[in-house]
Amino acid sequence: MTALPYGGTLVNRVLSDAARREILAGIDDRKTIAIDTQGALDAEKIAIGAFSPLTGFMGEADYSGVLARSRLKNGLTWTIPIILAPRIAENPGLGDIHVGDSPVLLYHGEPIAVLHVEEKFPFDKTEFARRVYGTTEDAHPDVKKLRNAGDTIFSGPIDLINRVSGADELTPEETRKEFDRRGWETVVAFQTRNPPHVAHEYIQRCALEQVDGLFIHPVVGELKKDDFPAEAVIESYQYLVDHYYPKSRVFLAPLAISMRYAGPRAAVFLAIIRKNYGCTHFIVGRDIAGVGNYYDPYGAHALFRNLDLGIEAMLFRESYYCRKCRSMVTEKTCGHPESDHSRVSMTQIRKMIVAGEQPPIEVMRPELADLLVKYRPYLEAGLK
Ligand code: ADX
Repeated sequence: MTALPYGGTLVNRVLSDAARREILAGIDDRKTIAIDTQGALDAEKIAIGAFSPLTGFMGEADYSGVLARSRLKNGLTWTIPIILAPRIAENPGLGDIHVGDSPVLLYHGEPIAVLHVEEKFPFDKTEFARRVYGTTEDAHPDVKKLRNAGDTIFSGPIDLINRVSGADELTPEETRKEFDRRGWETVVAFQTRNPPHVAHEYIQRCALEQVDGLFIHPVVGELKKDDFPAEAVIESYQYLVDHYYPKSRVFLAPLAISMRYAGPRAAVFLAIIRKNYGCTHFIVGRDIAGVGNYYDPYGAHALFRNLDLGIEAMLFRESYYCRKCRSMVTEKTCGHPESDHSRVSMTQIRKMIVAGEQPPIEVMRPELADLLVKYRPYLEAGLK
């Protein structure tokens, strides 16, 4: 039995073939809104139920409830606003779209969804940045990205015309079926945006000791420019699954969303998504969904201790290799001094790969490091 969807029901806003054909036949008569990658991926995730119970882009009551109290208007905990504030530059006709209209959302010119506009309200980007990201500094990648957003939020339910992501991205319905097929009663989700280093592997194995299956669900879609590209993450995890993990107990599939680097707030959002995908447990390690030094590395642990989302958080302290213990440890399991430890940092691994250096074996498996070398030009470009 997989976990119940968040709010009780898995949302499905994907149009039937007949309804889709009808919309496409009359598309020239409809108003349109050009949307960006985040908007397109959010529309898709809403439609396939990944953001259940949301059925569309948030209206003002949900939006302000999430900002001020981390709650939807129905009282459910929700931490990241899912809103649509289309860019003015790409949408000169935005002023002609009114409440009651059902414009088609276009992504790279392709119809993605119909938005049934129920509300329009002003978008205070500074307030959004301060509340969601805890900063208004442009050095924060999500805050910088806000500059591109428009000044008006359009909200209302959506109907999906076309999928945005590739066929390798499974829907919550599909992962639930897969977990059932495998007979997994308990499934732990692993949120990640990076290739696996030894600390990732360690906490995955610790979690796997407690549950039936591990669902590695890396965020692809939209990452910050100095992160590894999605292909690097999937390729290295595929290697780990094929060569090290028991295949019957580990399942890998990508999740195409825009990563929100909001630390603890993002962690809650990312856990809710995994509940919708059918997971019963969620791994929360050190500085999950963090960036720079913006967030308390264990802020998410404190949040999860006080929340009941219907998905159980498995909390892990920072882990690292201890040369004396000759194993992966944390401060909870090792009494040796810092000088005996090899700390793991993805920033450091990225820098070493760019510099043509091999990360030490206590930090990353050499085969994985070798496999990642080909992504060096991409990393170099991202660091500029
Ligand atoms: S994240 O943005 O997706 O959180 P990352 O892919 O680095 O970034 O982390 C995936 C998961 O591993 C998160 O739960 C994170 O807290 C955890 N994690 C990363 N590094 C460590 C570490 N050294 N010790 C413990 N947990 C870690």
